[in-house]
Amino acid sequence: MCGIVAYVGQKNAYPILINGLKRLEYRGYDSAGIAVANDNLTVIKKKGKVAELLKVTQKIDPHGTSGIGHTRWATHGAPNDVNAHPHSSRDGKIALVHNGIIENCDTLRKALIKLGHVFVSETDTEVLVHLIQEYKTRYRVPLEESVRLALEKVVGAYAIVVIDQDEPQKIVVARKASPLVIGLGNDEFFVASDATPLIEHTKAVVYLQDEEIAVLEPGKKLAIKSFQNEPQKPSIVELDMKLEELEKGGFPHFMLKEIHQQPETIADCMRGRLNAKEAWTRLGGLEPYLDRMAKANRLIITGCGTSWHAGLIGEYLIEGLARIPVEVEYASELRYRNPVINSGDVVVALSQSGETADTLAAIQHVKEKGALIYGIVNVVGSSIARVTDAGSYIHAGPEIGVASTKAFTAQLTLLSLMAIQLAKAKGTLHHAYYQELIRELSEIPNKVRNILAKDEVIKDIAETIKDASNALYLGRGYNFPVALEGALKLKEISYIHAEGYPAAEMKHGPIALIDENMPVIVLATNMSAYDKIVSNVQEVKARKGMVISIISEGDRQIKELSDYSIEIPKTIEPLTPLLSVVPLQLLSYHVAVMRGCNVDQPRNLAKSVTVE
Ligand code: M6R
Repeated sequence: MCGIVAYVGQKNAYPILINGLKRLEYRGYDSAGIAVANDNLTVIKKKGKVAELLKVTQKIDPHGTSGIGHTRWATHGAPNDVNAHPHSSRDGKIALVHNGIIENCDTLRKALIKLGHVFVSETDTEVLVHLIQEYKTRYRVPLEESVRLALEKVVGAYAIVVIDQDEPQKIVVARKASPLVIGLGNDEFFVASDATPLIEHTKAVVYLQDEEIAVLEPGKKLAIKSFQNEPQKPSIVELDMKLEELEKGGFPHFMLKEIHQQPETIADCMRGRLNAKEAWTRLGGLEPYLDRMAKANRLIITGCGTSWHAGLIGEYLIEGLARIPVEVEYASELRYRNPVINSGDVVVALSQSGETADTLAAIQHVKEKGALIYGIVNVVGSSIARVTDAGSYIHAGPEIGVASTKAFTAQLTLLSLMAIQLAKAKGTLHHAYYQELIRELSEIPNKVRNILAKDEVIKDIAETIKDASNALYLGRGYNFPVALEGALKLKEISYIHAEGYPAAEMKHGPIALIDENMPVIVLATNMSAYDKIVSNVQEVKARKGMVISIISEGDRQIKELSDYSIEIPKTIEPLTPLLSVVPLQLLSYHVAVMRGCNVDQPRNLAKSVTVE
């Protein structure tokens, strides 16, 4: 949530800041702003997207070799020009951008008002910049020391960048529980919330650690200290990312590009981890812990949103194949409960971004209980990747569209590999079935390609539901979490209210909603519950609901019962979600485009939810 950029060096900061903000816009787009240091501090900020900010900045064309920028996802205060970042100190000399939440801002604000401070915005961030200035003038200390003193008083989560007109060639950054990356250039420094704006400038980065402050000054070495004022050795990492991964590559939206990338991203996730000919799977991150996991009392899978849905499928996979008990819990619930977790358990944290605040907090919460914590993450070097004891990357590449698509199927691929490897270690599968699973998994990328080729058919079906107010998604077994995911995709990007249900639960309530205006999307590929699905479809038709079924190739019976059908290639049941979710992603995408929605940046959402 919220994107931060900064630059200090020899170049003009303004274009670097604007480009950086465009790259980070997926993190929040309620408002955007920049501050550039020249003879004084030029602060320009505007409600809305970076494009709105550009209309103003283009006229001013601010010059200066240091600056900070921000794209906002509103927490404290409405999205408007005043609440937009950067925020300035009382004397206007210090400006600050912030990602996170300052929980004790009301107490701090009251104390500062008593000292004569006047606030113009409703934000917690403005309180912090006033506090920094208060210490700077009171103790006559350098900027970094006044930042450190101010942060001693702050409770909450933050990544901040501070610039001071009195020391214009210096930038001070600090973080606690919100991400911040420093790019090392040639006598220059870049800062961003994640690596995406940095890659066009440098590949050498330092991920600032929790409770660290860094001082960035051209001509000097990067200086990092802990909040306790102890010098820290920066650990320089080489970014493994290509610029073209951050572009739309000819597609109208990132979401469509990412849906179409899935044959490659699924294959990338399996690369070096599966050999169909020799019939083995091997997750390097799992190997040292294989015995501990295979003998675990239980696995607790946690995550949020789409990652939580992937976790539910993980439960079906790991219990079904490896016979290890699994529970799946929302990270936002786990973090505030007092769960019974002990050293014989394994907690698996799933996250695309690796920065989701609830998932991070859940990990911290269960850490002292002695369980092994295993991360399944996409973004390399992210906070969750760093705080977990062990883990595997899903290798989906940067996912920019707010609606998660390719990360979901890569998570499922990783969980399938994990379940198969655990099953092998436990000896719970017949060898022939083990071989079949591996062979089928290796075929998934081709089968996804086959579904993507049906895009036009799916687009036509989207036309028939684009004006619906509600939609119901039904699935059984492995397809039940896919129904949840399909409903989430539709609601988050098209704003149509949608619910996912286990198909059999329909008659316990949702059936009351069904009439001729209700599209019901039925995931009907499970051979094990085929007759039951047929009955569910008949029940919907009996109430005049419109049935759109996702069926296995060649299935005539359900096709005839349905108003519309999308045929997908056959596979074995545990791997079905990897295929059945793809038409649902395309369906949501086309409906949202037809409704004129901003597919990549849906209202009120942000890609990386780094606040509670
Ligand atoms: O980065 P994470 O996987 O931890 O994110 C979790 C959710 O915020 C995310 O999946 C969200 O639900 C997506 N918008 C779904 O498309």
